[in-house]
Amino acid sequence: MKAIKLAKPWEISCAQLDKPTPGKGEALIRIMTAGICGSDIGAFRGTNGLVSYPRVIGHELAGVIEAIDAADNPKGFQVGDKVIVDPYLYCGHCYPCSIGRTNCCTDLHVLGVHVDGGMAEFFCHPSSMLVKMPEGMDWVLAAMAEPLTIALHGIHRGGLQAGEYCAIYGAGPIGLLAGMVAEAYGAHAILIDIVQERLDFAKEVGIEYIINSKEQNPAEEISRITDGNMAQQVMECSGANPCIRGTLDIVSHAGRITLTGWPKQETPLPTDLITKKEVDIRGARTSAGEFEEAIDLIVSGKVDVQKILTKTVSMEEAADTIKDIEKNPGNYMKVVVKVNG
Ligand SMILES: NC(=O)c1ccc[n+]([C@@H]2O[C@H](COP(=O)([O-])OP(=O)(O)OC[C@H]3O[C@@H](n4cnc5c(N)ncnc54)[C@H](O)[C@@H]3O)[C@@H](O)[C@H]2O)c1
Ligand SMILES: [Zn+2]
Ligand SMILES: [Zn+2]
Repeated sequence: MKAIKLAKPWEISCAQLDKPTPGKGEALIRIMTAGICGSDIGAFRGTNGLVSYPRVIGHELAGVIEAIDAADNPKGFQVGDKVIVDPYLYCGHCYPCSIGRTNCCTDLHVLGVHVDGGMAEFFCHPSSMLVKMPEGMDWVLAAMAEPLTIALHGIHRGGLQAGEYCAIYGAGPIGLLAGMVAEAYGAHAILIDIVQERLDFAKEVGIEYIINSKEQNPAEEISRITDGNMAQQVMECSGANPCIRGTLDIVSHAGRITLTGWPKQETPLPTDLITKKEVDIRGARTSAGEFEEAIDLIVSGKVDVQKILTKTVSMEEAADTIKDIEKNPGNYMKVVVKVNG
């Protein structure tokens, strides 16, 4: 079978691998679509320290069950069922797992990072970690459920309420999706970035407010937009140190900050502001139990993920597309590989 494989950083190809056979508790999935994620680009560049090589990439996956271990199939899946892959494998017995916070398992294994991913014609995965697709759901949109769960998780970790202002640093796919979710929740999204094209695009997909932090002072703008109250929830979706620092200036008193972006370096913070404003700061890593809501938001059209799709490509085009995204990130938002058919 064909699989998109990194032999090592900067060496990516459509390789020929053996078709896998499902082990205990696993299903064999004929993958239909696989999204390309910013983390796949990080793996290509060799800048994600968690990735080991060689590695098959891909964790934004949808496909059809072709075989299943019937003896260990807790969700009762059948051959032919259309499914979306929940790609965060957890141990099930550490402290966070024991309280249902499986996304921060002390031994978390993410597909395409710690273990081989599923940008391949066939892929085996625990059937307990599959989510059924509704009848008629589009294959390409199904591959975008995973990044939507990341955005949703950040929104949930901050407890966003209708009517609130939600300021988001970073207008990449994750920040944009978070903004679209905020609007769907009846909140007012404010997206902050330094790339005007990304901000213009955010406006096109229905984000109410945009701020170019190269030209405008986010704190001043947000004070004006919110009548001096500032943003009740702030989401960090850029991973840039100045943005992490900036969250404390734009959050309201008694507000919440969620940190989704992965910074490369440490950020010094004025903790007196955390005390003075009594801010809740929370990490937001991957997602847990959020696929069903993501699927519902997509299928109902409440979050129109189609709007952030740049294009679809074939398996043969995937490696060159990844090289081009690495060179020209500004030309792309979301790209989905049509793996089969
Ligand atoms: N916590 C998780 O589980 C998780 C999952 C997926 C992605 N992430 C992280 O979330 C972040 C966003 O992911 P993405 O795929 O949307 O990334 P992306 O690189 O496409 O988007 C980041 C955006 O931040 C903007 N930015 C960079 N520096 C800035 C600055 N100084 N001021 C304002 N804006 C700035 C960029 O212009 C870009 O539009 C990344 O850090 C990624 O690693 C975390
Ligand atoms: Zn991803
Ligand atoms: Zn665990």
